[in-house]
Amino acid sequence: MQFSIRQIHDFKTLATDCLVLAVPENSKRLQGALAAVNTLSGHMIRHVIDSGDFSGKAGQHTTLYLPKPSKIARLLLIGCGKAGETDLQQWARSAGQCLQRLKARDAVVCTDGLALDDAVSAARQLTHAIVAAQYHYSRTLSHKPAKPTLRKVGLHGLDNNKATRHALQAGQSIAEGTHLARELGNLPGNICTPSYLASEARKLAKQHKSLQCQVLNESQMRKLGMGALLSVSRGSDEPACLITLQYKGGKAGQKPIALIGKGITFDSGGISLKPGAKMDEMKYDMCGAASVLGTLHAAAAMKLPLNIVGIVAASENMPNGRATKPGDIITSMSGKTIEVLNTDAEGRLVLCDALTYVGRYKPDVVIDIATLTGACVVALGEHASGLFSNDDALADDLLQAGTQSGDRAWRMPLWDDYQKQLKSPFADMANIGGPGAGSVTAACFLARFAEDYTWAHLDIAGTAWKSAPKNATGRPVGLLSQYLINRAGV
Ligand code: BES
Ligand code: MN
Ligand code: ZN
Repeated sequence: MQFSIRQIHDFKTLATDCLVLAVPENSKRLQGALAAVNTLSGHMIRHVIDSGDFSGKAGQHTTLYLPKPSKIARLLLIGCGKAGETDLQQWARSAGQCLQRLKARDAVVCTDGLALDDAVSAARQLTHAIVAAQYHYSRTLSHKPAKPTLRKVGLHGLDNNKATRHALQAGQSIAEGTHLARELGNLPGNICTPSYLASEARKLAKQHKSLQCQVLNESQMRKLGMGALLSVSRGSDEPACLITLQYKGGKAGQKPIALIGKGITFDSGGISLKPGAKMDEMKYDMCGAASVLGTLHAAAAMKLPLNIVGIVAASENMPNGRATKPGDIITSMSGKTIEVLNTDAEGRLVLCDALTYVGRYKPDVVIDIATLTGACVVALGEHASGLFSNDDALADDLLQAGTQSGDRAWRMPLWDDYQKQLKSPFADMANIGGPGAGSVTAACFLARFAEDYTWAHLDIAGTAWKSAPKNATGRPVGLLSQYLINRAGV
């Protein structure tokens, strides 16, 4: 898709498949593009608003058709809510979805009416949302749905300067990363295995010169002492692997930002087998890993002046005769021993060894991303990812990136008070903390392996996919990309 900044001086001569206008709620006086197009349409917009059918409330949209000789095939009005309260993300998403449904081939999106305070960030978010709305899963369908039609989008109402033009590219790069994360998430467990994730990582490294990929196999991990990670793959016929993607866009010697993704390509629960209902959705248990690959793609495509290390801890969690059993005690790479009371709490087991392993890269900060607990879904639902951190500044940076990108997180406590729930009489710790505060005790478990550096954990169990209809969201590629952009100061 091609994006450009377009400054339209005369809407009379504009030819487009679809002109998208932002309409503030209860507009008494139409302004800017809205006023111009209203006049040229014979006051159609005014009529629609006065009819009461369309007030400009957030989420509302309607399509109008102008008589000849207008070369504007459709007018798409999208409500932006009360002045000063516009949720740009939501607006952009509706615009993208409507353009998708209308099968427009090209569009002009007018941003006046949105009262933008940061044109660069708006350009990035609009582009991201419009491209993201075009995503369709088709890989395993024999009847391929029609390809998205939208080819060209012009944005009107933004300054045409280097920074906004650059932001259009950034938005597209982030959308591609989101698209990759969604596709990997949606793929079934019999296609998207740990080895498949490794091949996707290698593919990324081929695509971007700035990315280097390394994959450790099980015997290499055994030599490193990764007993926790390997205890998860024991019960599966699919071998586990540890994938590292290094992005070197910053100065040599500049400490890297590390991203670690949970890559359980199917979570049956293991011997602590999950109930049957909705178990298919556990193919999404690698969405943390997918978000790491997606974010690294975005960072490389944006050529961010940063060093980044992406690590994916990939495994299946299955219950065969060799599988880890409740009560088994394992030794992690850190040397700490763990009593596995529930084999379904496997995410923290693969992650703890990755958290120890990442130390060798002397990271500036480490962020892990995981569909870690059902309890997080209970706490926060599908709107916010759970954020846990041992550092207030990092937590604030991530919360802010979430707000900026419309991919929000909410901070949860990581107090020592919760640590005692992990006590075990037979090992340094148990892998579960009992019924209360499940997402917190899971984070507390991880915190024990992240004491040497600044660390945050994002529990994306509620945000990474939707259940009805089933679809991966690509979150939190938006949040992470925004965090990286902020860190790069570009
Ligand atoms: N992958 C699941 C978490 C999950 C469950 C995410 C449902 C989204 C929806 C994780 O491996 C898991 O099974 N966690 C257990 C932990 C429990 C055994 C302490 C859970 O949340 O039930
Ligand atoms: Mn599990
Ligand atoms: Zn899991």
